[in-house]
Amino acid sequence: MSELRDLEEQFPQYAEATSPGKTVGGAPSATFAPVQHAIPMTSLDNAMDVDELRAWGDRVQRSLDGQPVRFVCELKIDGLAMSIRYVDGEMVTAATRGDGRVGEDVTANVRTISAIPQHLVDAPPVMEVRGEVYMPRAVFDALNAEAAQNGSRALVNPRNAAAGSLRQKDSSVTARRKLAFWAYQIGDRQGGPQHTTHEETLAYIADFGFPVNPEVTVFDSFDEVVEFCEAAIGRRHDLGYDVDGVVIKVDDLGQRDELGFTSRAPRWAIAFKFPPEERTTTLLDIRVSVGRTGRTTPYAVLEPVFVDGSTVSMATLHNEDQVRIKDVRPGDTVIVRKAGDVIPEVVGPVLSERPANAMPWSFPQHCECPLRSEFVRLDGEADTRCVESKCPFQRDQKIMYWASRGAMDIEGLGERTVVQLTERELVSDIAGLYQLSADDVEGLEGFARPSAEKLVAAIDESRRQLAWRVLTGFGIKHLGPTVAQSLISEYGSVRTVFAASEEELSSVDGIGEVIAQSVARWWQNPVNRDLVDRLEAGGVGLDNVEAPPGDGEGYEQTLTDRAVVITGTVPGYNREEAAAAVVARGGTSPGSVSKKTYALVVGEGAGASKLTKAETLGVPMINADEFEAFLESGQLPSTSN
Ligand code: IVH
Repeated sequence: MSELRDLEEQFPQYAEATSPGKTVGGAPSATFAPVQHAIPMTSLDNAMDVDELRAWGDRVQRSLDGQPVRFVCELKIDGLAMSIRYVDGEMVTAATRGDGRVGEDVTANVRTISAIPQHLVDAPPVMEVRGEVYMPRAVFDALNAEAAQNGSRALVNPRNAAAGSLRQKDSSVTARRKLAFWAYQIGDRQGGPQHTTHEETLAYIADFGFPVNPEVTVFDSFDEVVEFCEAAIGRRHDLGYDVDGVVIKVDDLGQRDELGFTSRAPRWAIAFKFPPEERTTTLLDIRVSVGRTGRTTPYAVLEPVFVDGSTVSMATLHNEDQVRIKDVRPGDTVIVRKAGDVIPEVVGPVLSERPANAMPWSFPQHCECPLRSEFVRLDGEADTRCVESKCPFQRDQKIMYWASRGAMDIEGLGERTVVQLTERELVSDIAGLYQLSADDVEGLEGFARPSAEKLVAAIDESRRQLAWRVLTGFGIKHLGPTVAQSLISEYGSVRTVFAASEEELSSVDGIGEVIAQSVARWWQNPVNRDLVDRLEAGGVGLDNVEAPPGDGEGYEQTLTDRAVVITGTVPGYNREEAAAAVVARGGTSPGSVSKKTYALVVGEGAGASKLTKAETLGVPMINADEFEAFLESGQLPSTSN
């Protein structure tokens, strides 16, 4: 990019108005302008297994009265659909799929993708090329290695990373992400040759210089289609980019016209989805982690195994009963898969491979911490707890929670750093963070001078963080981002919230007795009062209700006064983080669905009762993979009901 800019400065006569050197780093637009698609970008119906795939093949054959049908198999690239419009051979707009009818204008960012031509030679007057923008695995791995070095947050998966890269306000960020593209379709077109098959269309697009995936194959029989799909499952990780299935399309464009569309998808194509990948590995041990409230979670320590695109070495086992129900024992060979593509899960043991000496696991009675704290499970409760208030594990978790994205959002303060800080007695609680100097941090594992300064600067920035984030960061029971936001908008500052009586608190909209009591109890504890005093003395603001301009918090208020309920897990977010993301955009995130709910975000492992309730009340639902776009725009996808 800088080479291009230098050249354009030297030779302005060649610097075109549409050059990425011009658009990149331009004034950030408030949002991405809407683009009406000339031809809708429909989605595809899915076949979840070979039977469903064959059923589709039979339907196609039947509808075409037994005419010979050729099928094209293409890999289903796990990226984002993009429609790029050329007028007289010049790229004019690149738009995301959006709701299928209206997408978002990301032209400036797409101009930085080197695989996509800006000019076409001998193009028809109007032509849209559609395809998938994706992030190659190697780029993703390199960015994550870089993130690990700078202590910044890891990208969750290449698809999210590609989506995030395209939604950058500053195109030079997109440029650094080195996105790539596979073209698979022509959208709107005026003029140019009439093709009779999909295969011809792809060859035509390829001639303009668009990358067309080399794996595309045409078959005369459906058995070969099935064979291709089954073979693709085994090859999915050898490709250098993520694929989540195979798209099968009828090759003949005339036959496509005969088949037509349903209300949501073409009848002439289907997506064969890969089954979640299952791998076996050895369960080395079952250990117990202690959370900030003392709640414990048993987890599996696994012989590292590569599953669905990443290496898994740990997986939660939830609680004592789950371990018993799954009957997994240290030493077992276990089946591991990813739930919702992201969260690793132990499915169960392979009993035929159980070692003779494998003993059923029993929950330890004491914590591994130096205090050997006692674990207690009360009758009728699923969780086992650590009841030691001085537990060092709880202390570390409290500090991590304070720093997390759902609370104070201090970049670079992850578990490894917190543990080192407390082990060296540099910090013993959250207030201690505000006494740290770069000298203290320098020399910790992973910290040279620049990264030490960066961490101290990130901590300093958090002094000006919003009051609801401060209140959330204390980790008071029942007080998540939504409640914190209601309390702060009612009372204006952390101190005035604590000054309110239990009665007053419970009269605030959305705050019940349980929450009010929990807040009041927390404040009654002199240790906590002292903590707030010391935070304030350390310069932490307790009454910031508006983000200073230019601050990272300056999210657009896309969800003002809207209630967004989240059920299940959204990849890349924990519960508080997802709620905080809504709150940071002006919304609330209550725990239950009601008539007033604006939308229900449905993640992996979503609760059936919330889904049913939303369905009965006609509350729109949003898939986890639409969450980020939804946050940015506040718009409901029109395809959701
Ligand atoms: S064709 C009307 N071909 O899958 C046909 N889509 O579930 C429209 N995708 O939104 C799409 N690879 O983002 C087609 N080779 C491929 C694809 C592909 C990935 C995505 C695309 C689309 C989604 C549909």
